Amino acid sequence: MEMIKLIVLPTALTLFVLFLYFITKIIKLRKLNLPKGNLGLPVIGETLEFFKASLEGKQIRFIQERMKKYDSRVFKTSMFGENIAVFCGTAGNKYLFSNENKNVQLWWPSSVKRLLRLSLVSEVGDEAKITRKLLMSFLNPETLRNYLPKMDWITQQHINTHWKGKEQVVVYEITQIYTFQMACCLFLSMEDPIQLSNLLSYFEEFLKGVIGFSINFPGTRFHKAMKAADAIKKEIKLIMKKRKVDLEEKKASPAQDLLSHLLVTPDTSGRFMSEAEILDNMLLLLFAGHDTSKSVISLIMKYLGNMPEVYEQVLKEQLEISQGKKEGELLQWEDVQKMKYSWNVVSEVLRLSPPVGGGYRNAMKDFSYASYNIPIDWKLHWNPQTTHMDPTLFTNLENFDASRYEGEGPIPYSYAPFGGGPRMCLGQEFARLEILVFMHNIVKRFKWDLVNPDEKFKYDPMLEPEKGLPIQLHPSH
Ligand code: HEM
Repeated sequence: MEMIKLIVLPTALTLFVLFLYFITKIIKLRKLNLPKGNLGLPVIGETLEFFKASLEGKQIRFIQERMKKYDSRVFKTSMFGENIAVFCGTAGNKYLFSNENKNVQLWWPSSVKRLLRLSLVSEVGDEAKITRKLLMSFLNPETLRNYLPKMDWITQQHINTHWKGKEQVVVYEITQIYTFQMACCLFLSMEDPIQLSNLLSYFEEFLKGVIGFSINFPGTRFHKAMKAADAIKKEIKLIMKKRKVDLEEKKASPAQDLLSHLLVTPDTSGRFMSEAEILDNMLLLLFAGHDTSKSVISLIMKYLGNMPEVYEQVLKEQLEISQGKKEGELLQWEDVQKMKYSWNVVSEVLRLSPPVGGGYRNAMKDFSYASYNIPIDWKLHWNPQTTHMDPTLFTNLENFDASRYEGEGPIPYSYAPFGGGPRMCLGQEFARLEILVFMHNIVKRFKWDLVNPDEKFKYDPMLEPEKGLPIQLHPSH
């Protein structure tokens, strides 16, 4: 009896306190003028509707229906157990991008923060500013331009190994090898194919669990991702140990790759990153740059495969660049600056099919927006498609039109595949170079037909082709 009292009483009391907490919270929320919308069922909210639309590649349908029904500026929903205000249009993007550290701060689900605990995405405020500056000192155009010939060389080796001599390839499968190889080579100077393929298998495990429920129990995706992260970090730690010695003995150069750069470069306060911080940031950059780039490259292969006239114009531009070079000479910075039409094509692909479906922020305090109250700790979402798919911002918006980016291009805050403001994508220039170098080499060497010209792409969590995008290859002579 005593035992029962000991267990039942505290449990009942806890449940009662929780009940009171939720009731007061609901009463408090009811008094506020919240954005219109539907919070759905407790905890689940509208998660299932959002998932369904994502898996059909139609997140924008979920959003546009609610913009029409409630308010085209902002509406409320609830997903993954969080109350969310979705900020729409150029005004919504502008608000979230320009109020970082004032009313809002970057927010990621706890799975990301737990797996990348000491990295940039877990930091806000001045701490984030310092880390961004340090990482950017490697990822900026002035530094990356020196790595262009190396990028071209890696791409040629990749095509020789994985594309040459094949009649059919599954694009999504081999581009993941490409983007991983490129990142490992530039970040860690890792080139051994066996070591790369071992690390890639851990990395795939990591990617499956990084965005999702952070339940750390044997068998869950998150648990496997934790184990994979440990294995990857162990491998990078070994490379780091040897590199420190090599740098001291002048056998390695400080400009060799990102790892050397981080080991020898202090941040703006004069502090060097600790080993654990380097490991987590390295994992972050591999993660942030991997799914995104392989998604974009697959999309480009699809659009070019379906639009021979655009393919021909890209090929013309790339052949003109090659004709101005000596036999076997690798691409240089000046060559990439001439790839204007090709980049406009990529930009239009990123408008029509942004691989990243936006980002999240946390409300740092109660504030009002578009005459509604936004409560502290609500999550705020921006999605590039609320502007990319607005006919008042992009005329004939369903049409593929690379000329939109000529001259002044889209108006501010309307075009946002890489986000905006102080938390804008850090790898934009890296992605631009990687994608253009790939396009240069692939159009010069192949034409292709899509096995399923209507193959759909779904968000999971980045855009990916449902069947991996198999294509029939025809080598150019
Ligand atoms: C075309 C390919 C890519 C696209 C479309 C893309 C898109 C994005 C977007 C939309 C964000 C902002 C999320 C937000 O506002 O919450 C972001 C952040 C980020 N991206 Fe990318 N990305 C790409 C490639 C890359 C690459 C190649 C790297 C690394 C080399 C990278 C590293 C990062 C990092 C570190 C952040 C976090 C920045 C911060 O929190 O301050 N991205 N990316």
